[in-house]
Formats: sequence, structure tokens, C-alpha cells
Amino acid sequence: MDVFGLLGNPVGHSLSPPMHETAYDELGLEARYVTFEPEPDDIGAAITGADALEIAGLNVTIPFKQAALEHVEPDELAARIGAVNTIDFSGSGPPTGHNTDAVGALRSLRNHGVTIEGARAVVVGAGGAGRAIAFGLADAGATVTVANRTESKARDLAAAVPDATGRGLEDLEPLLADADVLVNATSVGMEEDASPVPADALHGDLAVLDAVYQPLETRLLRDAAAVGATTVDGAWMLLYQGVEAFELWTGLDAPVEAMNETLRAQL
Ligand code: ATR
Repeated sequence: MDVFGLLGNPVGHSLSPPMHETAYDELGLEARYVTFEPEPDDIGAAITGADALEIAGLNVTIPFKQAALEHVEPDELAARIGAVNTIDFSGSGPPTGHNTDAVGALRSLRNHGVTIEGARAVVVGAGGAGRAIAFGLADAGATVTVANRTESKARDLAAAVPDATGRGLEDLEPLLADADVLVNATSVGMEEDASPVPADALHGDLAVLDAVYQPLETRLLRDAAAVGATTVDGAWMLLYQGVEAFELWTGLDAPVEAMNETLRAQL
């Protein structure tokens, strides 16, 4: 029996256990996916303990993604992003740290027919999610502009991402006029029916990914659909970060459709 799990605090409402356990059922794997809620100061002990207990793999979420980096051997992308959301304990050496949020965003967009290579992409938000997505898009060949409420944070992030630029939210309208891809990596739209992007800055040639998945149809995605843009909801990102983690841990192709069905049934 392989044990996988999620480290976070809180993790009570996580959608990952049913999503991953659907994959195990589908492929006939003897495995379980459980949630762990260590105290914020105990992340190092939690990872060392998981290694000793021969846990096969862990996802990592808020507030541990950055701190987990110190307790694993990060791959190159996770090191550049500065955050880990997937730990693999299968090797003989120290646990390795990965960041599947970046690839999750790329796979979500590609699954909707969006070409990243050569695209002009605007990422709204410069927190953890914005960071992962900006690196992912740039690595896949997009030219990235980070737009953030606090412009200095956008500039700091852009300085680390190849060929990226950092701007304030007031520049969104001209930026989007020339853009192919827009990603909301802020929490705006989760608590209230609000959008971080003025509706009239959107146009039909955009592909719009919203990392917010509760609600699934955010104000931003409604506004984007109204002008004929391609819309990609946050459940796709959640799905594909999980798919990537599953594939990294097991070396198998994930049963994406079954995982997607389970995930969406919970939302
Ligand atoms: P996460 O790790 O999930 O990305 P975070 O690090 O707290 O979360 O980052 C939240 C992001 O959402 C930031 O880019 C934040 O902008 P600031 O850097 O200016 O704080 C952005 N954000 C949060 N609330 C916002 C709001 N009401 N309007 C615009 N941006 C907002």
C-alpha cells in the first residue's frame, strides 16, 4: 500500500484526496491519499517524518510551499520559482521537490487549444501562484508581463523571469489590447463577484485562465465569455497540477478524464 498525501494548514476542504483516489481506483493501484495538517513551525519535521515512514509522495499547499523548499532537493524549476508543491520520496537520496503548478497552468491552456510558444501573456498577480505561472509561461516560450496591484512586486518578479516586464494594474487596458493570454493569479473573484480586470479591456482573441476555482465561473470568466474569449476555469489548473504530481510519483499516465469528473463533482 502506497501512501500519498497533502501537507497544508488548513486542508479540511481539500479536493485532492478524491481526485487522486479516483486515479488509484481507475488504474487498480493499492494506494491512499490522506491530508496532514502540521503546525506552521513543524514543516521540516513533517517532511523528515514522512520520509522515515516511507510515504511515497506529498503535495504541499498554503502555508508551506516556500518553507518546504528548505527541506527537499528542489528541481531547477521549483528552485527558480522558490516554492514546492510536490515532494517525491521514491529515490534513495533526500526527497526531491517539484512545482507542478506551473505545468498545471500550461496544460490547462493547451488543453483548450491555446499555443503558449510565442504568445504574449499577461499574468495578474505576483504572489505564489503568479510566480509559478509566470515562470511556467516564460519557460514555454511566452513573453510575460506581470501586472500587480503593488507594482514593485510585479517588477521584482519580472526581474527574475526571462524577458518579463512588471507593471501596475492601471496599465492593464493597453497591455491586454496586444495580448493573447491572460491569467488571473490573484484571489479576486473568490470572496465576491469582482474581477481584477476591467471588462472593456477584454477581447475575443484572448485566452483567459482564472486560477480561482470557487466559484468556477468567476466574474472575469463571465466577462471574457461575453466578448468571445476562450475561457479556462481554475478547476483545470487544480486538475493538471494533480495529474502532473500523479505522473511524477507513479510514472504512469494519469486517468485525466476520471480525475476531472471527480473533481468537478465536488465543486
Ligand atoms: P498566492 O500565494 O495564492 O498567489 P498571495 O501571495 O497572497 O497569494 O498573493 C496574492 C496576490 O493577489 C497578490 O499579487 C496581491 O496583490 P498585492 O501584491 O498588491 O497584494 C493580489 N491581490 C489580492 N487582493 C487583491 C485585490 N483586491 N486587488 C488586486 N490584487 C489583489
